[in-house]
Amino acid sequence: MNKILITGGAGFIGSHVIRLFVEKYKNYQIYNLDNLTYAGNLENLRDVEHKSNYTFIKGDIVDDLFLTELFEKHQFDSVIHLAAESHVDRSILNPIEFIQTNVIGTVNLLNVAKNFWKNDYSDKLFYHVSTDEVYGSLDNSGFFLEDTPYDPQSPYSASKASSDHFVRAYQNTYGLPIVISNCSNNYGPNQFPEKLIPLFINNILNKRPLPVYGKGENVRDWLYVVDHAKAIDVIFSKGKIGETYNIGGFNEWKNIDLIKVLCKTVDKKVGNPVGTSEQLLTYVEDRAGHDLRYAIDASKIMNELGWEPSLQFEEGIAKTVDWYLKNTEWLENVTSGAYLEYYNEQYQNRG
Ligand code: NAD
Ligand code: TYD
Repeated sequence: MNKILITGGAGFIGSHVIRLFVEKYKNYQIYNLDNLTYAGNLENLRDVEHKSNYTFIKGDIVDDLFLTELFEKHQFDSVIHLAAESHVDRSILNPIEFIQTNVIGTVNLLNVAKNFWKNDYSDKLFYHVSTDEVYGSLDNSGFFLEDTPYDPQSPYSASKASSDHFVRAYQNTYGLPIVISNCSNNYGPNQFPEKLIPLFINNILNKRPLPVYGKGENVRDWLYVVDHAKAIDVIFSKGKIGETYNIGGFNEWKNIDLIKVLCKTVDKKVGNPVGTSEQLLTYVEDRAGHDLRYAIDASKIMNELGWEPSLQFEEGIAKTVDWYLKNTEWLENVTSGAYLEYYNEQYQNRG
């Protein structure tokens, strides 16, 4: 019986990973450890919560004593670590929280796993889920490769880069069996509406301004979240210990071009006259230290592990918009209270 601890499973990507693993690996026990921050939502997992191979545990990875007791109790064989503070704008407003969860929390997990497994590392794995943002910002050409030097530019990416270094240090120093993946921007169902795509869908539905940072010329490389979850499964099952795998869809979009596709897609689906949502576009003050371009070369995972993205972008965007249109209650629930406070702090005086 394989016992897998997945951290951050109530969040956006984590919930898709949990669903995939619970459904695919019926003979594994899947434990979801999440402390349900504003970004964690058990609504994301209603369809799997009753399954006999799934257990939810509420807890904080910053609490090392709690983690020790948890490992003693459940004797995990592997960890897939996604729990993190994940939003660049929030990291600019409050960097300390990012150091707590992303750095201290990751080191706590590494330490507990090392202490529990050190007498026999066979069949053990610590899989750390990271981001392409650790590589910094590209100009108009080139791609991030697995050996691109780290050059993080935001408090978020600096905290993720730091956690990646600690993961490698634990392998180098203590022999902990690790694997790391660095993925490009994800989109899809269940993403909290602070990130570009769900924030803009929510604002279009509420006829609120669409805040484009700077000139909208920054470029991101977008991957449908279910394809990321499948890549995580492939790496978990077939990845080589100690390796890093970049994950991306070879799908670069300038923000303003992507936003226009999004506006057209929503207008068409809700029956608005052509051009309605584009009237909401509002150019606002740029993000501090805004990375110009991210672009992943995902050849390694494609060639060595046989993974490839399954969805074309237009299809992924259509599915995403459909999900948000169908799940307005989910959107309403997560955009009350604390969300409004964050929104006002982030966007007031920017326009
Ligand atoms: P998210 O913010 O949607 O979810 C994070 C989850 O972690 C939430 O459920 C939250 O409650 C939980 N969490 C936060 N702090 C915790 C703590 N101290 N203890 C326990 N649980 C805690 O994030 P996401 O977008 O799903 O990202 C998941 C992972 O993937 C992160 O490590 C992120 O860096 C990485 N990643 C994200 C993207 C992306 O585009 N979203 C791309 C590449 C990599
Ligand atoms: P985001 O979804 O925050 O992801 P990341 O910063 O991790 O790439 O932002 C994606 C891009 O969209 C980024 O270039 C910033 C831009 N952006 C806006 O123009 N307006 C917004 O309100 C947000 C949230 C992002």
